[in-house]
Amino acid sequence: MSFPRRTHTCGALRPSDAGARVVLDGWVASRRDHGGVLFIDLRDRYGTTQVVFHPERAEEVASRAQALRAEWCVAVTGIVRERPAGAVNRDRPTGGIEVEATELAVLSESAVPPFEVDDRVEAALELRLKHRVLDLRRPTIQRNLLLRSRVLLAIRNALAARGFVEVETPILTKATPEGARDYLVPSRVNPGTFYALPQSPQLFKQLLMCAGLDRYLQIARCFRDEDLRADRQPEFTQIDLEMAFVEEEEIRAELEVAIGAAFREGLGLAVPTPFERLPHAAAMARYGLDKPDLRFDLPLHDATPFAAASSFQVFRSVLETGGIVKGMAIPGGGAWPRKEIDALGTKVAEFGAKGLATLKVEEADLTGAIAKFFEPALRARMREAFGAKAGDLLAFVAGPPAVVNRSLGELRNAMGERLRLRDPKTFRFCWVTDFPLFEWNPSEKRWDSAHHPFTAPADWTLKGLPGDPGSILSRSFDLVLNGVELGSGGVRIHRRDVQEKVFSFLGIGPQAAREKFGFLLDALEYGAPPHGGFAVGVDRLVQLMLGLEGIRDVMAFPKTASATCLLTGAPSAVPPEQLAELHIRPVLP
Ligand code: AMO
Ligand code: AMP
Repeated sequence: MSFPRRTHTCGALRPSDAGARVVLDGWVASRRDHGGVLFIDLRDRYGTTQVVFHPERAEEVASRAQALRAEWCVAVTGIVRERPAGAVNRDRPTGGIEVEATELAVLSESAVPPFEVDDRVEAALELRLKHRVLDLRRPTIQRNLLLRSRVLLAIRNALAARGFVEVETPILTKATPEGARDYLVPSRVNPGTFYALPQSPQLFKQLLMCAGLDRYLQIARCFRDEDLRADRQPEFTQIDLEMAFVEEEEIRAELEVAIGAAFREGLGLAVPTPFERLPHAAAMARYGLDKPDLRFDLPLHDATPFAAASSFQVFRSVLETGGIVKGMAIPGGGAWPRKEIDALGTKVAEFGAKGLATLKVEEADLTGAIAKFFEPALRARMREAFGAKAGDLLAFVAGPPAVVNRSLGELRNAMGERLRLRDPKTFRFCWVTDFPLFEWNPSEKRWDSAHHPFTAPADWTLKGLPGDPGSILSRSFDLVLNGVELGSGGVRIHRRDVQEKVFSFLGIGPQAAREKFGFLLDALEYGAPPHGGFAVGVDRLVQLMLGLEGIRDVMAFPKTASATCLLTGAPSAVPPEQLAELHIRPVLP
């Protein structure tokens, strides 16, 4: 069956088209009946156009149009009319015209949709994901997906122009450690064995450097079985790259080009480059987090010397057990009601702080329950060191460094929000550099790689371990945008002896190293070039470009927090025969 082909999209017509005979194909977004004259908003990917059915001018068509309901798919033929001045809709590009219908063809009727397909209507997330096809008809989600497409294209073009070669690496592969659990795929032909879906193409891209590809690029799907949060999905996309014969600055320069292209082509914005560089230790000292939001300052200050000189037992006993005390000045917080100040304590408690001590900054002095534990001269020095002004609130946390930094870092972000310092239209990038190589895992009581085990140490001579392995720096760095980690990477180990040393320090003995990473160690045997690279999370990049709270609405078919797809019903049970063929017997709880 043939149908009337569109001459224009629903976003195309302007007053200059007045008088033209046009055909529009699209979906009925809304209908309004004004005493027999029927107005329809017709929607497609490109926009919305108002169609009007006049019973006195096209009686048969207008009477059939009465049956139209939301989400019917139709073709409308009609004449473009310029709207009178009073009837112009300035909120949409087609608002200066309407199409007076002369013919109507219903291409598909629609059942009553479970929610209104309208950006202003908030439907429950479950319902939206179950009926994702309808949800995806909403203009904002289409805008998100279009931006994503433009961003990917811009980055691909920018990097291709700079000599990067796109290579696809296997999806059915062996585990690569990025810190999450693997998704496994059973092998039918090799009973009892499994492929792992890649957590990233990390090892393959290093092999490609050993193979002489020199500059590799992939828009890579990655799979991680980890606890989901607003900015994490079990499968997600990275812009993954690797380069031979480079050091840190050359990698960062390529990424600045790629990100610059994404913002230019995606949003028409010029982001200033080079991005700011911030050593990890400085980020922790000043902001408490390794992904500081630099849209605002509100720095943390070391209060350890003041605590040591005070008579406040809570602080002194923390110092005696190797803890630290830090604090921040919250502008205007001195005037906040008790309840709101208590809420700050609840905030830091979420991140393990045992309490939040506060002082009010008055014109001449610091006041509050703990003021008496600090001599007047000490109070004056502390006020000066915190750069505090009358009306501010000083807030302190005492405890182990990790707890103090995390809780105050999160408090700082909450204050940025509370004081409206986090403008979603401002994009503040920074490179956080000089990460530690290892970090202590308190629950497992062992050292882990801070990034991954293939990261090159910056200053470890291999002659022996320093007293504190946590003090060894690495050649890895992160890209941070507005307090979110967008990507990570660095210079890799390209010497087999160094790689083996790192494995052994991480408790991966020679035999385990052979089994898991023999192919990498082999590649390092045959003239491996110095190399390094990086991966940017595409979903998070597009999310931040759009100022969204999570990554779900920049993905066409995302999963729920329990990693299910409500649309298809995945994951789902499979017939016993299929399991038998895969040599699998489920052990259900
Ligand atoms: P990393 O593990 O830091 O590095 O990942 C890089 C970036 O990928 C994004 N990302 C995610 N996005 C959505 N959902 C997730 N579950 C998720 N996990 C990670 C983040 C993150 O910054 N192979 C290394 C890179 C390298 O060294 O070159 C790697 O994968 O934006
Ligand atoms: P306490 O002596 O336990 O009543 O505590 C006195 C004040 O110190 C209260 O405001 C507590 O919230 C605060 N406080 C207790 N422990 C800490 C801590 N580890 N860091 C900062 N303040 C604390």
